[in-house]
Amino acid sequence: MAYLIGLDIGTSGVKGVLLGEDGTVSASSVREYPLATPQPGWAEQNPEDWWRGTVEVLRELTAAAKGETVAGLGLTGQMHGATFLDERGEVIRPAILWCDQRTEAECAEITSAVGSDNLQRITANPALTGFQAPKIVWLRNHEPGNYDRVAHVLLPKDYVRYRLTGAMYSDVSDASGTTLFDVPNRKWSSEVLSALKIPAGWLPPAEEGTARTGTVSPECEELTGLKTGTPVAAGGGDQAAGAVGAGIVREGVVSSTVGTSGVVFAYANEPWVDPEGRIHTFCHAVPGAWHVMGVMLSAGGSLRWFRDTFGYQGYDEINREAASVPAGSDGLVFLPYLSGERTPHKDPNARGVFFGLSLSHTRAHMARAVMEGVAYSLNDAFRIFRELNVPLQEVRALGGGARSPVWLQIQADVTGLPHHRLNVDEGPAYGAAILAGVMAGTFQSVPEATDRFIRRTDSVEPNPARADRYAEAVSLYRSLYRSLAREFPKTHRLIDTNKG
Ligand code: XUL
Repeated sequence: MAYLIGLDIGTSGVKGVLLGEDGTVSASSVREYPLATPQPGWAEQNPEDWWRGTVEVLRELTAAAKGETVAGLGLTGQMHGATFLDERGEVIRPAILWCDQRTEAECAEITSAVGSDNLQRITANPALTGFQAPKIVWLRNHEPGNYDRVAHVLLPKDYVRYRLTGAMYSDVSDASGTTLFDVPNRKWSSEVLSALKIPAGWLPPAEEGTARTGTVSPECEELTGLKTGTPVAAGGGDQAAGAVGAGIVREGVVSSTVGTSGVVFAYANEPWVDPEGRIHTFCHAVPGAWHVMGVMLSAGGSLRWFRDTFGYQGYDEINREAASVPAGSDGLVFLPYLSGERTPHKDPNARGVFFGLSLSHTRAHMARAVMEGVAYSLNDAFRIFRELNVPLQEVRALGGGARSPVWLQIQADVTGLPHHRLNVDEGPAYGAAILAGVMAGTFQSVPEATDRFIRRTDSVEPNPARADRYAEAVSLYRSLYRSLAREFPKTHRLIDTNKG
């Protein structure tokens, strides 16, 4: 039997899966690596760590393949990051990641240089702090010595592709998150590049997700055991590839994923754009398709922070406590903006809030309030989808938030939508392996493969008895941000004062 490999260069680590032609995962492997925050709000990683993790994961997967053919490898990974390389292909400085918030001034600079209407028309999105182009402009403004050495800028998974194959390529879904891409026309935008004075030659060709983008080099065969000449598919950004892996391949089927971030993702036949830029419109990894998605930055990240800060042994304990508290957490509301927020606020200065604390509240109330706050935020994305008439026939729940029964029930209750779970929840690496399978001819098309391999297992229905209380809570949750929006930046001044 021939195998396929999907490789996900994530934020906490690299994950690889070895997929059989029948869609079953025969082996998977993970290597973690650190994330550096040299200043508050910054997030960086050493690309060499991605590569080291990749080599170890591939060695494990090729050993598990026991000499059988690997017909192709597909790449996916954390989106939006900037890896700066010099003309010899050497890394110039640590990569700046998707969750880094240092570029507020550069986003304003980009918006004024290109014009916000033009940005919306060409890139289908506003310039946001996490995206790639603001990081390039930041380098020019703050590290001119490094900027002068730049010859190539690659997204994280595309750097790993370069190390695997020696070839520089990207794919249209990941390129969509740079602010340099003409999303409706699926190509780099010469208009935006020239307005920002960024050389087009720094960027690699952007291909459709199932295109072939080079082959494994002889040096890599030595290091990883993958045969020289194994073709590598363009792949996709982690959200697009994750959606492929969950069968989000036709209109009406939507996923709601609670990982570190929280993402509500819908397939689109056309590049629908939110005129207010609250949700992202990107090319899909499915050739010729687009997608829209709402992204909240701290979903599972909020619960992880809560677990680590409030002395829990693990998530089971949090789940038990949250289930013991009534819907609405007895008036306690949590705003999950621990690292700023994208959907719907586009506000890097927003911060987390517990609102309504009283002497009767316990740690268990806070646990439930965190879960509810994340669900209120996901609900914001569903609300915008409805406003924009994005078809919403079926919601597929994914990630850690779908594995917690109490949290999944909260998500269904708050949104009023049944949430379905799937037989496969392997994440983006699984989708990347499917893209590789289409490239290699193992599968005819993405939907042909996903229709065969992915099915619903169980569903959680919204409880109508909780609808009124959650409608009240959602309304309070939304008004809290409006009341507090202007206050959040003042917290930064406090941090500076304390340091001084
Ligand atoms: C998507 C996004 C995250 C990152 C990291 O826009 O920022 O999903 O790709 O996972």
